[in-house]
Amino acid sequence: MSEIKDLAAYFRREAEREREYARLLEGTASKSHNLMLKALMKAVSLDSMKHASLYEALADLVENPRLVTEEESEEVAREVERHIREEAEAVEELERLLKDERIISNPAAKFIVELMLRDERFHHALLKRLEEAVLKPLLFKEEDYWEMVWRDAVWHGTPGG
Ligand SMILES: [Fe+2]
Ligand SMILES: [Fe+2]
Repeated sequence: MSEIKDLAAYFRREAEREREYARLLEGTASKSHNLMLKALMKAVSLDSMKHASLYEALADLVENPRLVTEEESEEVAREVERHIREEAEAVEELERLLKDERIISNPAAKFIVELMLRDERFHHALLKRLEEAVLKPLLFKEEDYWEMVWRDAVWHGTPGG
C-alpha cells in the first residue's frame, strides 16, 4: 500500500517539475520578438503543462482509480469517433502542404509543418486507442456493481444468514 503511495507521490512531484519547467519556457518565449520562436517555445511549454496533468492523472489512477460508467464511456466513444475523423482530415491537410513547393523550399516552414503532422498523427493514434487502452480497463459495468453488493452481503452477513 505504501508503495502505491510512494508512486503517487513521485507522479505528483513530476507534475510539479513539469509545471515549473513550463513556466521557465514561458519566460524564454517572452524574451524573443520572433513570432515563430515564441510559438515554438510556447508549444513546448504547453506540452509540459500537458505532461503535468497526465502525471496528476497517473497519481490519481494508481491511488484511487475513478471508474468510468457505461453511459459515460458510450458517450465519449461516440464523440471520439468524430474526433478521429477530424484528426485524419488534419493529417491529410498537412500532407498536402508538404507537397507545396512554397513550403518545401522554406526549411523553417517545412520543419513546423512536419512537427504539426507528427502531432496530428499522434492525436489520431491516441484517439483510436483510447477506447481499448483507457475506456475498457476503467469501465465500471453493472455486473461489477452487483458483484460488489453480493460480496458486501457475504462479508457483513445477509439478514437471517
Ligand atoms: Fe515533459
Ligand atoms: Fe489534433
